[in-house]
Amino acid sequence: MHIPFLTALVGGLFSARTAAQNTGGVSCTVTASGGDDGPTFVDAVQRCDSVTIPRETTLSIATRMDMTGLKNKNIDLLGTVKFTSNMTYWMNNGFPFEFQDQITFWIVGGENILINGGGTIDGSGQVWYDAFATNSTLLRPILLTLYQATDVVVKNIAMINSPEWTNFVNEGKNVVYDGINISAVSTSNNLAKNTDGWDIYRSDSIAIINSNINNGDDCVSLKPNSTNIIASDLYCNGSHGISVGSLGQYAGVYDIVENFTSTNVQMYNAQNGARIKAFAGPGVGGGIVKNISFSFFTEGNVDNPLIVDQCYMTNATECTAYPSNVYIQDVTFANFKGTSSGKKNSVVASLACSPDSRCNNITVNDIFLEPPSADGKATYSCQNVNITGNAANLFGDCATT
Ligand SMILES: *[C@@H]1O[C@H](CO)[C@@H](O)[C@H](O)[C@H]1NC(C)=O
Ligand SMILES: *[C@@H]1O[C@H](CO)[C@@H](O)[C@H](O)[C@H]1NC(C)=O
Ligand SMILES: *[C@@H]1O[C@H](CO)[C@@H](O)[C@H](O)[C@H]1NC(C)=O
Ligand SMILES: *[C@@H]1O[C@H](CO)[C@@H](O)[C@H](O)[C@H]1NC(C)=O
Ligand SMILES: *[C@@H]1O[C@H](CO)[C@@H](O)[C@H](O)[C@H]1NC(C)=O
Ligand SMILES: *[C@@H]1O[C@H](CO)[C@@H](O)[C@H](O)[C@H]1NC(C)=O
Ligand SMILES: *[C@@H]1O[C@H](CO)[C@@H](O)[C@H](O)[C@H]1NC(C)=O
Ligand SMILES: *[C@@H]1O[C@H](CO)[C@@H](O)[C@H](O)[C@H]1NC(C)=O
Ligand SMILES: *[C@@H]1O[C@H](CO)[C@@H](O)[C@H](O)[C@H]1NC(C)=O
Ligand SMILES: *[C@@H]1O[C@H](CO)[C@@H](O)[C@H](O)[C@H]1NC(C)=O
Repeated sequence: MHIPFLTALVGGLFSARTAAQNTGGVSCTVTASGGDDGPTFVDAVQRCDSVTIPRETTLSIATRMDMTGLKNKNIDLLGTVKFTSNMTYWMNNGFPFEFQDQITFWIVGGENILINGGGTIDGSGQVWYDAFATNSTLLRPILLTLYQATDVVVKNIAMINSPEWTNFVNEGKNVVYDGINISAVSTSNNLAKNTDGWDIYRSDSIAIINSNINNGDDCVSLKPNSTNIIASDLYCNGSHGISVGSLGQYAGVYDIVENFTSTNVQMYNAQNGARIKAFAGPGVGGGIVKNISFSFFTEGNVDNPLIVDQCYMTNATECTAYPSNVYIQDVTFANFKGTSSGKKNSVVASLACSPDSRCNNITVNDIFLEPPSADGKATYSCQNVNITGNAANLFGDCATT
């Protein structure tokens, strides 16, 4: 019979009700047929409580998989689920999402779902990386999307070669990703672009922990309406960092990011370390970024190890005329160490706010960041913000600019 939930404390910060291993119910095994295994896999997950993909098995998925509306399911992925590289099919048949005009191979939704087992999900991304190099409007599928999913655990899974974003959590609640290895690396000269590790949207109580990410865009990205999120114990390489935003992009839309903790992050060879960004300019939307904590970041070769940009996509003149309507408050950056790339010369941290006190209560403690030695002594840049904390003096007085 089912043991429906167990309560796990994730980082002691919020309690997520998480899926438990079924001890009974109907168990099924799906093995490779030599053809398209998609329909068989979907059917097995709908019919059976527990579905196993054995270790030596590689399921070939040639048709999109809709696994929404599930209840009390275990997917034991010991082997591999591999999506075909038929771009024509996927471009025309991937499940569409209006948000940022995305498509996906695979949607999982419902409640009390456990996906684990040490296996691999493979998106055959190389053909997409190469095609995107000559078609910048190419629709590329997201590897795995949780849509309207509650009480889900995705644990001990490798996710490789995603054509675009690796994980999308859209309208999810109480989701834990634990022990995920992401690799989206091109073997040609064409980069694996937009291969975010995670994008979270309209979701609450999501934890991403104990994971290794080697990719070509955000390691973790909090899109509009992400609340009570944890991203901790992560090793990110080659990414665009842990990002809050972009927010406030669309006129008439209000974006909320509240209660986010990101701690114990190793960030290497990246564009950004910890980042918050919000649009300014004519016709932007509004929002609030509130109660955000970034701590214990160790960085190496990062362009912007610590950055707030509340004037995104504008220059100083335009940001003054059309400030961001996304207010930023109660943000702490603490215990940052390591080196920048030198791409911003000696600047290792930057807090650029819109005028009129739209950033409030920003604290910086124990910041030990250095540029490469050739770029000299570390400098800190800031505008339109009062800063507190034991590292505030590094920034000087930037409230009056
Ligand atoms: C790719 O998918 C299309 C349908 O979208 C199909 O007509 C074609 O045969 C498929 N190609 C291969 C190699 O399977
Ligand atoms: C580029 O990608 C778009 C969207 O996937 C597609 O409609 C279009 O045909 C592609 N263009 C070329 C030149 O292949
Ligand atoms: C993830 O990587 C770690 C470290 O290399 C390894 O121990 C672990 O088995 C990997 N997990 C999966 C699911 O591949
Ligand atoms: C990290 O990324 C760099 C380039 O961005 C790459 O050269 C290196 O092999 C990656 N390291 C690992 C451990 O994957
Ligand atoms: C975010 O949540 C607020 C409050 O519920 C809502 O007004 C707003 O439309 C939401 N924004 C998005 C992008 O969903
Ligand atoms: C801030 O968020 C953390 C979780 O990230 C939460 O534990 C804490 O209670 C929140 N503080 C306030 C004042 O809301
Ligand atoms: C943020 O955390 C505080 C303290 O736990 C809680 O009261 C508040 O409702 C949370 N905010 C959101 C949007 O969930
Ligand atoms: C700032 O941006 C505005 C709008 O794009 C442009 O018209 C203006 O010339 C820019 N000013 C400077 C100093 O670059
Ligand atoms: C400032 O933000 C911190 C969290 O970074 C919070 O604990 C504190 O209560 C805030 N102070 C005020 C005056 O709101
Ligand atoms: C900085 O603090 C002073 C004193 O509270 C206040 O008058 C000023 O408006 C603040 N400036 C900004 C940019 O928040």
